[in-house]
Amino acid sequence: MKHLLSVEDLGADGLDDMLRVTDSFVEVGERAIPKVPALRGKTVVSLFYEDSTRTRLSFETAAKRLSADTMNFSVSTSSVKKGESLRDTVETIEAMGVDAIIVRHSSSGVPWQVASWVDASVINAGDGWHEHPTQALLDCYTIRQARGSLEGLRIAIVGDIKHSRVARSDVLAFTLLGASVVLVAPPTLLPPSLEGWPVEVSHDLDEVVPKADVVYLLRMQKERMTEALLPSLREYTARYGLTVSRAAQLQESAIVMHPGPMNRGVEIAAEVADLPRSVITQQVRNGVAVRMAVLYMLLGSGVDLTHGSGTDRAA
Ligand code: NCD
Repeated sequence: MKHLLSVEDLGADGLDDMLRVTDSFVEVGERAIPKVPALRGKTVVSLFYEDSTRTRLSFETAAKRLSADTMNFSVSTSSVKKGESLRDTVETIEAMGVDAIIVRHSSSGVPWQVASWVDASVINAGDGWHEHPTQALLDCYTIRQARGSLEGLRIAIVGDIKHSRVARSDVLAFTLLGASVVLVAPPTLLPPSLEGWPVEVSHDLDEVVPKADVVYLLRMQKERMTEALLPSLREYTARYGLTVSRAAQLQESAIVMHPGPMNRGVEIAAEVADLPRSVITQQVRNGVAVRMAVLYMLLGSGVDLTHGSGTDRAA
């Protein structure tokens, strides 16, 4: 596999392989010196046209733990501000000799375009409302860690589905691994058509919560909303927020997830985000290992992971 643009590039077997490789990198992360020489001599650049805390830092940490060289491109301080086109920017970066380009952009499809212009591997770190495959991988990994397997689980994805690339990639990945997904949102925050989505839909969170194995909350993405889709945030919270009283209805073994950044008090009560059953910090932690697995699988030089010494002779 050369690029990771969509969950569909992986399929069920590819997802499984990636999660298995992630296990080795979780182990690397637990070492005193969490670094291996697997990508020595490779250069990874992140090209982020949209804001990010977790995804950008996570990819950067992952690349560094694999001993790759990293470059960071920030739109706000680049020649994009002087009007340089995406294509010229990408070709400039490639001319410097890079092995992987990690792309985040507000328009759907940009990572595919970039992949058609360059020889380097391209990883989609979020394109518009469309996809965010590494988020789906880390979510699957986190669910497996907590519940053993996704097979037969009932997963509720709650909130602003319409604008969510996380929801699109998660629905694909969760169902490929055997879970059933119910989307819970007001009609205005669902995509206009759900044809072809292997999901159920509900508008009643109180009915869904007691039956769910996983409740996955999405951020209210105000920056993507072009029209008034909600009467008020307070009303949203009352009907669709995971409040303390709703969380009390969860099954003993159920877990709560969120991709971050959270709006505490809107889609999730502050206290609920801090419950032991909330695996939100675990998601972030696993994100690094998952992205190490992705970079390794795309760029890997064939170094046998099991022979890592735990001390980085490359550094
Ligand atoms: C999300 C994103 O940017 O797609 N965050 C993330 O990558 N963890 C979700 C969001 O912005 O709400």
